[in-house]
Amino acid sequence: MKPDSIKINIKDLTWDPSIYPRTTKSQQTINAYAEALDIGAQFPPIKIQRVFNYPDTDGNKTTQATITLDGNHRCEAFQEKGIQEISAIEWKDHPLDYEKNKIPLLLESAQSNTIHGDRLTPNDKKRVARDIASTDPECRYTESALAEKLGVSQQTVNAWITDIRARQKTNRDSIIIRLSRLGWTQEKIAETTKMTQGRVAQIINNTSFGKINNLLAQGRDMKYIASHYNMELALAWALRLEGKTDQEKFKELEWGLRTWDQWNFNECDERFGDDWPGRIPAQLVAHTLFYFTKPGDLVLDPMAGGGVVPDVCLAFERKCHAFDLAPSDSRPEIEYHHWNPQKGTWPLVKKPDLIFFDPPYYTKKAKDYKEKAGKATPSISSFTKKEYETFFKDFFNLAHENSRPSTILAFLNADWRDFESTPATEENTDKAITTYDYNRLLSAAGWKITHRIECPLSSERMTGNMVKKMQDRRILGTTTRTLHIAKKKKEAP
Ligand SMILES: C[S@@+](CC[C@H](N)C(=O)[O-])C[C@H]1O[C@@H](n2cnc3c(N)ncnc32)[C@H](O)[C@@H]1O
Repeated sequence: MKPDSIKINIKDLTWDPSIYPRTTKSQQTINAYAEALDIGAQFPPIKIQRVFNYPDTDGNKTTQATITLDGNHRCEAFQEKGIQEISAIEWKDHPLDYEKNKIPLLLESAQSNTIHGDRLTPNDKKRVARDIASTDPECRYTESALAEKLGVSQQTVNAWITDIRARQKTNRDSIIIRLSRLGWTQEKIAETTKMTQGRVAQIINNTSFGKINNLLAQGRDMKYIASHYNMELALAWALRLEGKTDQEKFKELEWGLRTWDQWNFNECDERFGDDWPGRIPAQLVAHTLFYFTKPGDLVLDPMAGGGVVPDVCLAFERKCHAFDLAPSDSRPEIEYHHWNPQKGTWPLVKKPDLIFFDPPYYTKKAKDYKEKAGKATPSISSFTKKEYETFFKDFFNLAHENSRPSTILAFLNADWRDFESTPATEENTDKAITTYDYNRLLSAAGWKITHRIECPLSSERMTGNMVKKMQDRRILGTTTRTLHIAKKKKEAP
């Protein structure tokens, strides 16, 4: 029997981006619905769910909410037409515990959105599959179940989540070895993995992977070797490369070693780091380590995202401490930290030799980062230009205070100009933030830029149509991305 619909006030509904899978709202769909309302069209009821144990707007306490599972576009169209109430059906007729039911809620929402309305884009579906896989280490949702719910082939789901599943299969010993190689103390590893310090020490001292070379000699590839030992690929590479020189490592990884200050790498190397919005090529990190650190040095990655920096540090035998506001469960080496440099908190005890800082490039990918951030702990990509600049002013000062005289800061950022749909001469230059602004902020905080390395973003994703439109309208895009290398200025004698 179909559940009865009820009338609900749209203002009482919560749109939860981590449950509602669509990353973008389509204004075209909203307009079409609004026009249809004008001529008296009737719409099917939206789907909602009452929940409890829901984080409040500050992200602190829990509360009750009614979240939309399907029908956001309809709600927007109703509101545009000044209609406050909409028909809705409840998925389950009783309130659900939000924390315990996140995956079923996400799946129900995804499935409703797959069946009708504006269909989900492949990217939306990929995000749902990855979100579910990463919160489901017991693999309760198989690839085939996800494929069925999302209306795609099992092969597609497999390609989307294979790295997450491989990491989940990683055994505890290899996690301990990874953390230890990155420089974690046995005490901290024991605390994180909930094991005794004695057991941690035993694993670190007694585990041997001596057969890697035998397996290689038998013609086994690295993927096979990683799954043979239940470890993730980056650690398998680290073990294979152990004791080699940096140059030998570049060679075995089949990376050319650039000797000039133009580092253009179009593709991310799948062996290092997770699929993550704004992921950077591992080669870029490796070159930074090669020129500006030595084996055993301590690297700090304040905004580590998908973990490419810790993975490359592992392979190049550097220590690494990594933080992010959205650390993934499967990467214990990335610790939670929300940077708010005005508070002056610095989460690292030992002073680093290198800070590899890859923050969001102003509002680029803001939607993706917003979804990962909490309401009270926002990503800096949601800041106004003034707030964003103030963040860097304070961060560079804080980093300066917490560094040694020899610490190197490698700061990656891209020029941001308001070029979309705007001819070059009409851009609003007040909105732009470029490498010159970062130079000014770094210098004011006591850092001296010693090298400027150009690492352009790939322009391959531009379609022929986009290029044609830009040519016709004299729009000048930007692919500039600069790695600023800075040292602390010498104190006046
Ligand atoms: C450009 S991404 C880093 C990508 C990473 N280098 C990689 O290759 O995967 C920037 C990261 O900054 C994080 N972030 C933004 N604001 C933050 C804040 N205030 N505190 C901590 N992390 C923040 C985002 O969650 C995002 O993962």
